[in-house]
Amino acid sequence: MFNIGIITASDKGYKGERDDVSGKLIKKIMVVEKYIVSKYIVLPDEKEVISNELINMSDYLKLDLILTTGGTGFSPRDVTPEATLDVIDRNAPGIAEAMRYHSLKITPKAMLSRAVSGIRGSTLIINLPGSPKAVKENLEFILPALKHGLEILKGIASECATKH
Ligand code: MTE
Repeated sequence: MFNIGIITASDKGYKGERDDVSGKLIKKIMVVEKYIVSKYIVLPDEKEVISNELINMSDYLKLDLILTTGGTGFSPRDVTPEATLDVIDRNAPGIAEAMRYHSLKITPKAMLSRAVSGIRGSTLIINLPGSPKAVKENLEFILPALKHGLEILKGIASECATKH
């Protein structure tokens, strides 16, 4: 069982002007997958606010995985990748690459997501785009590899199984 945190980056969501459908959808999908959602929070699109919460969830709450949604696009207020890059100590680009690779088969607009993925201590951090559609499409694609990655990160599994 892995403990996860969910951060929605959205100025409108933070002000209560928009329902956070995407954050709730992540929660629903991850609960079905038997992850424990330990913290869920909606934050404004402020780089320092987001990176401080990433530090809190990884260093103090010791969560295994943090999923963010929103703020990965080209708008001047989209700073989730920068907040993530500020706090990770190891890059794990394959996850973000895989999401874009898969998403490009669905929409060319997938190339507009600047999402990154990386590791802080023993916490994996993954950016997802903001729309519920994008959340579902991206998350469902990475889920089959996620538990194995977390097991290796946590030292629960030391080798890749021969069966994939
Ligand atoms: N990826 C998938 N799978 N499906 C989508 O509909 N939308 C794209 C992209 N990635 C999309 C997707 C769009 S339109 C944008 S602008 C970027 O994600 C960034 O979204 P964000 O700014 O909400 O994070």
